[in-house]
Amino acid sequence: MRKILVTGGAGFIGSNFVRMALAEHPDCFVVNLDKLTYAGNLENLAGFENHSNHKFIKGDICDGSLIERIIDEFKIDSIINFAAETHVDRSITEPKIFIETNVAGTLTLLEAARDKKLNRFIQISTDEVYGALGPEGKFTENTPLSPNSPYSASKASADLLVRAFGHTWGVKYNITRCSNNYGPYQFPEKLIPLMLNNALNDKDLPVYGDGLQIRDWLYVYDHCTAVWKVLTETRPGEIYNIGGCNEKTNIDIVRLILNRLDKPESLIKHVTDRPGHDRRYAIDASKIIGQLKWRPSVSFEQGLNKTIEWYLASRKWLENVVSGDYQKYYDSMYKNR
Ligand code: NAD
Ligand code: DAU
Repeated sequence: MRKILVTGGAGFIGSNFVRMALAEHPDCFVVNLDKLTYAGNLENLAGFENHSNHKFIKGDICDGSLIERIIDEFKIDSIINFAAETHVDRSITEPKIFIETNVAGTLTLLEAARDKKLNRFIQISTDEVYGALGPEGKFTENTPLSPNSPYSASKASADLLVRAFGHTWGVKYNITRCSNNYGPYQFPEKLIPLMLNNALNDKDLPVYGDGLQIRDWLYVYDHCTAVWKVLTETRPGEIYNIGGCNEKTNIDIVRLILNRLDKPESLIKHVTDRPGHDRRYAIDASKIIGQLKWRPSVSFEQGLNKTIEWYLASRKWLENVVSGDYQKYYDSMYKNR
C-alpha cells in the first residue's frame, strides 16, 4: 500500500486530489495535514472524513517534529506538498506569511523527507514562477524563473530549495508547475468563483484594469490526475508543466459566466489594476503529454459548465465560506479600487 502525506488537503486542489486518490486508487493511504487557514475547509472533504484510507490531522507544515512523527507513525513513503498561501493579491498586502509557509514550510518538509529517506517528494508549484509572457510563446520547463509577485517569488524560492535538496542530499523529488485551476471547492477570492458568487448575488464584478490579461485554465480534476501520474510513473528530478491549452482573457471568462447565469453585463465594473499584474501565462505541456500520456479529460466549456453547476448546487457551501472574515476581507480589498 502506498502511504502518502498530502499537505494542504483541505484546500481547493488538495481536497480534489484527496477525493480522487481515495475514489480511484484503493491501494493508497492518505494522511492529510492541513492548518485550516481561511482557505482550508473540512467541508471540502465531506463524505471522505471517515474513509478507512484517510486520516486528517490539523497542523502546520512548519512544525518539523509533527512531520517526523507523522512519517514514523503512518510509515509514510511520499509527500505531496499542496499546502501554501496562494492568493497573489494577499501576497501584495501581507507578504510575510507567504515566506513562512511557502518557503520555511517547504524547507521543513524537505528536511523530514531527507532525514526519513522518503521515496518521493512532490512539490506543487505554479506557472507564475516563470514570470509573464508577451503575446507570443509559452512557458516550457526550461524557461528561466522570473517571478514577479511576492507569492510567485515564494513559490520560486521553494522550487530552488527542492532542487538544492535533490542535488545536495539526493532527495528524490519532482516539481509540477501548473496553470490556473478551476472547479469545485475553490475559495471565492479567486477569479471564477468570485465572479460566480457576485453574479449570483447581483453584486458588481470587479475586473482588474482592462480585463485583457490572459490565463491558461485547467479543470482541477485534470490537474489531480497529472499529479498522480507524476507520483507513480516518473523518475526523480523531473519537472513537469501542467496546463490545459485554454488561454482566455479575464473579461471573456466574466462574460461567459454572466451569460450562463443569465445576468446583465452591466454588472461588470473595471477597477484599479493589480500592482505588477502579469499580463499573460501560457503553458507548454508537451513534456507530460508525451512522456506520461496525460490528457485533460474535459474541454474548457465542459469544465466551466460542470463548475457552474457545482456552485449552483452548493449554495450552502458558498454561504458558509463567504460569511465572517471573508466578507471583511472583500470589503477592504474592493472598497477603494
Ligand atoms: P488553497 O489556498 O485553496 O489551499 C491551501 C491549503 O493549504 C489550505 O487548505 C490551507 O489551510 C493549507 N495551508 C496553508 N498554510 C498551511 C500551513 N502552514 N500548514 C499546513 N497547511 C497549510 O490553494 P490551492 O489553490 O488549492 O493551491 C494548492 C497548491 O497548488 C499551492 O501550492 C499553489 O501554489 C498551487 N497552485 C495553485 C493553482 C491554482 O490555480 N489554484 C495553480 C498552480 C499551482
Ligand atoms: O497561474 C497559477 C496561479 O493561478 C496559482 O499559482 C495561484 O495560486 C492562483 O491564485 C492563480 O493566480 P492568479 O493571480 O492568476 O489567480 P486569480 O484568480 O487571483 O486571478 C486570475 C486573473 O483574474 C488575474 O489576471 C487577476 C484577475 N482578477 C482576479 C480577481 C480576484 C480580476 O480581474 N478580478 C478579481 O477580482
